[in-house]
Amino acid sequence: MSRIFLHSLCAISAACLGAACQPEPAFENDRNTVVAGKANIGGPFTLTDHTGQTVTDRDYLGKPTLIYFGFAFCPDVCPTALQQMGAALEILGQDADRLTPIFITVDPGRDTPDRLAVYVTSNGFPENLIGLTGTNEQVGEAAAAYAVYAARINDTASTAGFTFDHTSIIYLMDKNGDFVDAFSHLDTPERIASVLKAHLRF
Ligand code: NI
Repeated sequence: MSRIFLHSLCAISAACLGAACQPEPAFENDRNTVVAGKANIGGPFTLTDHTGQTVTDRDYLGKPTLIYFGFAFCPDVCPTALQQMGAALEILGQDADRLTPIFITVDPGRDTPDRLAVYVTSNGFPENLIGLTGTNEQVGEAAAAYAVYAARINDTASTAGFTFDHTSIIYLMDKNGDFVDAFSHLDTPERIASVLKAHLRF
């Protein structure tokens, strides 16, 4: 059984020993029971992509999507997850074009479309990664739709004075926007790629 992992700078910040730093996981990713949660993951959203265009969940129907929530200032876990996603898609080769990789920020205050436009081109991230941001309300609705926990917390170790605790999980949604599977950092790119291949049936 794999768990959904939360992360933040808390793990290495001595200033961060409070209760807010040990949130309960939003849920557990038990592959035997995940079917029960299928209907609860995913849903409508309206956001702004990294080109500044307003988009909704419906714009991504027709292809399976890989969706990850995080924030561009995240020092390690978010980049690692997006590189993990990139490596999995790299294994698929040209068939990676049959999926749409999406990054949704939980830090819309700093992650403007312009910032995301740069961020999505980071080394090792999926080619054609789409960055999405929005108002706090829009981002909150999207996170809620995906059962993603995200909370801004104080962090004296960072220049901004805050960071985010958030669920770190890669969702595979099918071409109709329905939940298929979820991956944590314990899933190797090879394993993710094999699940994607099985889903795409090739
Ligand atoms: Ni992160």
